Amino acid sequence: MPDSIQVVRATGVDAPNTSPLSDPCVMLVFGASGDLTKRLLVPALYNLACDGLLSKNFALLGTAMDPLTTDAFRERMSADIQKFHTRKEFDPRVWEDLVSRFHYLPGGFSDMAVFDRLRTEVARLDLQVAAQGNVLFYFATAPRFFGLLCDNLHKSGFKEGPGWKRIIVEKPFGTDLASALALNKEVLANWQESEIYRVDHYLGKETVQNLLAFRFSNGMFEPLWNKNYIDNIQFNVSEAVDVEGRGGYYDSSGVLRDMMQNHMFQMLAYLCMEVPGSFEPDSIRNEKAKLLQSVRCYTQHEVARYVVRGQYGPSYGPSTDGKANVTKAGYRQEKDVNPKSNTETYAAARFHIDNWRWEGVPIYLRSGKALWKRGTEIVVEFKKAPEVIFRGTPVVNLAPNRLLFHIQPYQGIEIQFQAKIPGPTMSLQPVNMRFGYGDAFKASRYTGYEVMLYACSHGDATLFSRGDLVEAAWRVAQPLLDSWAAAKPEFPNYARGSWGPKSAADLIARDGRRWHEVVTEEVLKTVPLFKDGDMLFLEQVIMALRSRQVASGECIINKGEIGRELYLVARGEVEVLDDVGNVIKVLNDGDIFGEIAVLMSTPRTANVRARSTCDLFVLDKADFSRILRDNPQFAEAVQQVAKERYKVNVHTDALIAPH
Ligand code: BG6
Repeated sequence: MPDSIQVVRATGVDAPNTSPLSDPCVMLVFGASGDLTKRLLVPALYNLACDGLLSKNFALLGTAMDPLTTDAFRERMSADIQKFHTRKEFDPRVWEDLVSRFHYLPGGFSDMAVFDRLRTEVARLDLQVAAQGNVLFYFATAPRFFGLLCDNLHKSGFKEGPGWKRIIVEKPFGTDLASALALNKEVLANWQESEIYRVDHYLGKETVQNLLAFRFSNGMFEPLWNKNYIDNIQFNVSEAVDVEGRGGYYDSSGVLRDMMQNHMFQMLAYLCMEVPGSFEPDSIRNEKAKLLQSVRCYTQHEVARYVVRGQYGPSYGPSTDGKANVTKAGYRQEKDVNPKSNTETYAAARFHIDNWRWEGVPIYLRSGKALWKRGTEIVVEFKKAPEVIFRGTPVVNLAPNRLLFHIQPYQGIEIQFQAKIPGPTMSLQPVNMRFGYGDAFKASRYTGYEVMLYACSHGDATLFSRGDLVEAAWRVAQPLLDSWAAAKPEFPNYARGSWGPKSAADLIARDGRRWHEVVTEEVLKTVPLFKDGDMLFLEQVIMALRSRQVASGECIINKGEIGRELYLVARGEVEVLDDVGNVIKVLNDGDIFGEIAVLMSTPRTANVRARSTCDLFVLDKADFSRILRDNPQFAEAVQQVAKERYKVNVHTDALIAPH
């Protein structure tokens, strides 16, 4: 059996490919006319073939209700591959060879006569390609068929004869603890656990697999990987897409079932598990299971305290005549969604891992749909250095060191720390060191399924979930489902395109912390003030920005106060008020405010209040002055805003002088 590190490398294209081919087999795909086959399975097989990793002793037999012939199936796949392949260039020769090994046989999943025909056809293909009796069954179907298919495969004698027989099962594996237990029972009635491969496509992602490589192949980090050095860990899976026409499925699922219980708990397990004895599949999976079993299962009271949920409402453009201006409808208006739906499209939680390594370290998870950006990140925040050492210097507070795993779409790892700003005084600036996959490897984009198909053919189950792991994850999720079913939420509670509900910011703020929002250059460039900034400038701004969410009606700035912060509206509306409370101006997405007092070292010149829930970035005065000093063109742009807005002539010297 190959070790899984080798498997991971197998699909990269940098090093010459010395990996063994996939094992010979006939792959029998149930649900072959569906989305998964054309979007992921076939492009993954094609990638393996392009990389020279697919055995020549391979054939695919597709089956589903659709009455297709083999020729029609091949034609359909040939058209679809043009849309869904992930290579930079398409290689028709590789494709022609691959598609010539595809076959199709229509039929229903409960019809035993169909299974007899499938068995005859698999036997014929086995002889034709010399697959040595190996059969990989792929269930690309709705979960309600999993038990039935396992049963019928067993009854029709598929397990007999030479060679291995393995089943890959797609998610979701159960919809709650009881159904997952029942499904495991059904699936394992006639098959061994070692023959069942439960897919979680996050485990196919290079950046997720690299979590293990990073932790266990580097000497620097593992000694710090515990409650003595780590203050908190944040897992963030933010999706900009909405339910994308999958309302029917999503409305009976929600983000807890769709993302957290599976994908996020898998990442959590990788990041927090104990060191395995080896890279053998069960060695790793034992540690993952132990970790998930250590996550505290909440009481109803704890759910109320540590978990919040959300559902997106419409998005709004700038209001006209004080009236809300809906630009895109909310979740309850989506196709196939109940207009009174209480399904959550967002969730944030603090979890506790009750073991020696992590006791007392808050583990925060959040995920949602229709948010401001697409981005999956893990932020490991270390305990701060003692500030007292810097007394008598201009340094007043120290930012914590952070280790950021950028899972997607940007793929990389980043370390944030402090560095001395060149000059005669001891002043610090947060800086970073970054490794980007794109800079270090020439790898093409992969679907994530290549490595799973390849590994399964070799009997390597590392990247698949085991029955006890799935059950442990449901045990943690179940109390949340129960509590939510018992209480009616106030939905919708966040706007499309926002950072999510304010309650999520409050959840972490109660612990004296905040979510670390990863801002990218692309996001920053959507703000007019930053759009022409060079990389160095944008990087400086990104490192200095803090996130803050405020509720509608909350006062952000009070006239007369000393201004120590500048604000950037990421999303929402704020109103600038005069002394008697009249609205002088309304500001929204991309606008800045609070700059005048910061620039001029004068008291705040007006009150500013949130008109809606607002997502704000905050820049401290010291950082702002430093960035202005280093970037004269930015200083000019800010000067212009101040001039226009307040009819004040602010000289650049005044802007950049240290106050
Ligand atoms: C799927 C969920 O499992 O994962 C989708 O059903 C979600 O709702 C998707 O959008 C996210 O996957 P990725 O790879 O785009 O992060």
